[in-house]
Amino acid sequence: MARITAGVFTSHVPAIGAAMDLGKTQEPYWQPLFAGYEYSRQWQRDNKPDVVFLVYNDHANAFSLDFIPTFALGTAAHYPVADEGWGPRPVPAAEGHAELAAHIAQSVIQEDFDLTLVNRMPIDHGFTVPLSLMCGETPPSGKWPFKVIPFAVNVVQYPVPSGKRCFQIGQAIRRAIESYDEDINVHIWGTGGMTHQLQGPRAGLINREWDNRFLDRLIADPAELAQTPHIEYVREAGSEGIELVMWLIARGAMADVAGGPAPVVKHRFYHVPASNTAVGHLILEEAK
Ligand code: DHB
Ligand code: FE
Repeated sequence: MARITAGVFTSHVPAIGAAMDLGKTQEPYWQPLFAGYEYSRQWQRDNKPDVVFLVYNDHANAFSLDFIPTFALGTAAHYPVADEGWGPRPVPAAEGHAELAAHIAQSVIQEDFDLTLVNRMPIDHGFTVPLSLMCGETPPSGKWPFKVIPFAVNVVQYPVPSGKRCFQIGQAIRRAIESYDEDINVHIWGTGGMTHQLQGPRAGLINREWDNRFLDRLIADPAELAQTPHIEYVREAGSEGIELVMWLIARGAMADVAGGPAPVVKHRFYHVPASNTAVGHLILEEAK
């Protein structure tokens, strides 16, 4: 049986990818940010999954205003790196796990969640920056150390899904993964956030207190956190802070939500600023 053994949560700020690609990680601006991920890279090597189910959002690279899937499951065997305007990032393309993805599609859709299935999509910074943060520098000719299943959530064009719906779909994803008949180790990642607003009079908004309360509640009471109305994210975390609903998908897939033991907090990190964004990061390991 496939097992979910950990949840990883992280921001995906595009400038973090650029800092790595341009060799700036030891500059004073970036050094404290990357120091916060040193533990995570070692943990990742020590706890290597077979597959990462990676919840993220596309930023009008694979999708556009032409069509806007609320929840899109990647069922492909291969995901090329998107060109976001400066050429594709110099990182490897990702390998999918098409069989497990097809099983998840079957299970989750039969539980009445209407997913969009995507057989071809490039992955943008929303996907590659979390990979780079957790895995470190990987040459374009190399490989990421695990297969991936992308799960793209619309948090760009209103109306976006509620935290409650995200939390429920995470629970369905857990049931799907746990009913897959092969003994593989799966990590689930929730990415995006934390507070940021990129536009209008409040551009640059950061709300440390709200972010840290979000992290507290994500750890200790995710069911209550999932009730947060979308307008609170916009008011308190900024228009792009709504990306945080994606963390509730990953959290909803963890054992305690299904009546099991609470996860162990292996790492917690918060840093301001990275570009216009507050960076948050958590590693929650399932009890052994
Ligand atoms: C920035 C942050 C994001 O999460 C994003 O998707 C785009 C830009 C920023 O801080 O500049
Ligand atoms: Fe983003």
